Amino acid sequence: MNILILGSGGREHTLAWKISQSKKLNKLFIAPGNAGTAQLGTNLPIDILDFKAVKETLLKHSIDMVIVGPEVPLVNGIHDFIANDSQLQHITVVGPKKRGAQLEGSKKFAKEFLFKHHIPTAAYQSFTSDTLKQGYQFLEKLSPPYVLKADGLAAGKGVVILEDIDEAKAELTEMLTLQKFGKASSEVVVEEFLDGIEMSCFVLTDGKNYIALPNAKDYKRIGEGDTGLNTGGMGAVSPVPFADASFLQKVEDKIIKPTMNGLIKDTLDFQGFLFFGLIKVGDEPFVIEYNVRLGDPETEVIIPRLKTDLLSILEAYAHRQLDTIEIEFDSRTAATVMLVSGGYPEAYEKGKEITGIENVQKSIVFHAGTKKDAEKVITNGGRVLAITSYGNGIQEALQQSYQSIENIRFEKMKYRTDIGFDLKR
Ligand code: AMP
Ligand code: GLY
Repeated sequence: MNILILGSGGREHTLAWKISQSKKLNKLFIAPGNAGTAQLGTNLPIDILDFKAVKETLLKHSIDMVIVGPEVPLVNGIHDFIANDSQLQHITVVGPKKRGAQLEGSKKFAKEFLFKHHIPTAAYQSFTSDTLKQGYQFLEKLSPPYVLKADGLAAGKGVVILEDIDEAKAELTEMLTLQKFGKASSEVVVEEFLDGIEMSCFVLTDGKNYIALPNAKDYKRIGEGDTGLNTGGMGAVSPVPFADASFLQKVEDKIIKPTMNGLIKDTLDFQGFLFFGLIKVGDEPFVIEYNVRLGDPETEVIIPRLKTDLLSILEAYAHRQLDTIEIEFDSRTAATVMLVSGGYPEAYEKGKEITGIENVQKSIVFHAGTKKDAEKVITNGGRVLAITSYGNGIQEALQQSYQSIENIRFEKMKYRTDIGFDLKR
């Protein structure tokens, strides 16, 4: 098969790493990719939101399957675009169509779906600038902290949690009337705060059947002890120790199965990866959010634990026969630590030379924001490299990643030294 992966982060490098191990692979392309993917296939410098450019690429390289890494092309309808084009419709797309992608593209759509299908989630109401007063009234009924979510995609920044009712009202006003997050906040979901510990579950579904992938926990804040600004993710571990068999059974019965049945009932024909952002409150799971793709950096720990050939799985997916495939996981723990540019998630510099990657022997180095510059590898983003290791337990895996990091240098390199700090080791 000729495969095209869309995206340029650690998630896409990890998918490329796994797929490049497959006997079913003929040619691998990544658009736009990074210095890591360039070692495994051919990077194509196209704008993945320019569907005409994507079409030319698909035809030029006789692509059989497109794997869509990030959410934006899905929410913009790349799957529909390919499915509706007579020259392209034979191509398998891994990722949902526009309607299904609304599960991530609209918080309100996701909440309506959750309530309609009786899936545990926080109580909520949604508001526009016309219903601002009702928004204030709803906030007054809730107890603090207050959770406000811009309805649309806001690059992970659209959720604001505030302790003070007056600040919450001011924030709601700013989001709705001043469009603080642009069009994304012309509608705002206000919801009850859930107090618990978060984790993520992942499935791949062909629209009929699904397979569960390993679960993971990521660390989003820039600072030690989960403090400071939100980032794309500073590290992750898989599996999650507190997700024991009885909790995972609840997740399957109360969340995953009702979601899968709901997708079918609502004729969303959802095909692709589905990411369940969960919170464990007491012993009960609740859905915080859906994402219609794999997580980053969660992919850097879940895909390395997948023993089964990924293209065999995706071939079964293409034929809507995921029920015929047996999948096998590595029972070891995988942990990843993200190396980031100084200043991130605020302003940071790019173009710093990275050295020492070749000296890492016992971990896998996944590139996130890197590019080639002649013979050098240079930084090209806030999140730069994800260092993944296996171990018998979180501590062993993390220790290995931290040891491997000792080899790597770039100016103003930063990372969190406490990934997994809140988990039993
Ligand atoms: P989201 O983009 O919906 O995942 O929200 C971003 C983050 O906000 C989540 O990862 C949680 O840490 C937090 N969050 C969102 N909704 C809630 C909620 N209802 N209760 C507590 N925390 C929440
Ligand atoms: N790590 C969270 C995400 O990919 O959305």
